[in-house]
Amino acid sequence: MSERIIVADVEEMSQRGANHMAEIIERAVQERKKCMIALSGGKTPRKLYERLASKEFESRIPWESTYWFFGDERHVPPDHDDSNYKMASDSLLSKVPIPTGNIHRIMTERPDPQAIALKYELTLMKAFNLAPGELPVFDLMFLGVGADGHIASLFPHSEALHVTTQMATANKIPETENWRITMTFPIINEAKQLLFLVAGEDKAEALRQVLEGPSNPQEFPAQLVRQKRGFQLWLIEKSASALLTQ
Ligand code: 6PG
Repeated sequence: MSERIIVADVEEMSQRGANHMAEIIERAVQERKKCMIALSGGKTPRKLYERLASKEFESRIPWESTYWFFGDERHVPPDHDDSNYKMASDSLLSKVPIPTGNIHRIMTERPDPQAIALKYELTLMKAFNLAPGELPVFDLMFLGVGADGHIASLFPHSEALHVTTQMATANKIPETENWRITMTFPIINEAKQLLFLVAGEDKAEALRQVLEGPSNPQEFPAQLVRQKRGFQLWLIEKSASALLTQ
């Protein structure tokens, strides 16, 4: 099941997204006493995270029952301006009463990105109390879409697209050779709720290809999202939707 909503701007995206997220958290905590959330990075989600940290949601969200993870991370220190953890912490996580132990960043201080990815797999196994071979099922996972059609750090024609035996893996950005650590498709496709946030005219062509183009997942990895269950909401800012026909 999926729904696409075209929003006028990032303001509307943030308000709708924050409300949607609050409903998911409330329901998950009512049903299972906890909500497991994987955040995305980049620029688009920041306003939504800030909105969620606002007074409007302060008392609405059972922060102590929320657990926070990252769909991907850059191989930079946690206080680096490019860090997805830093962006999420500055805009949300440090602003609301989430118990420190409930926040599971990807520990990028280590020199070897693949070791970081394997460590994160252990973090996920412990946090979800998984038996060997079990996969974590996130209540909510945020995803952005890159201008090249990537999600998380699953870039076109990259090795990480084919990793199915790890929950997280290291991956290089083709152009810059910089390392990333990213969750893999088996984990993404296990999530109960996916929330895609897509903004900017530079995403229009990739979004058209991903949502309406022929199957070409190596070129447009977002096509590899095949959720096993649940619901996905696409919040698409108007300029990013410019080439969509449906
Ligand atoms: C990251 C993100 C990445 C992002 C897209 C869109 O680490 O950058 O996880 O997948 O969601 O690249 O980025 P923008 O929101 O900056 O356009």
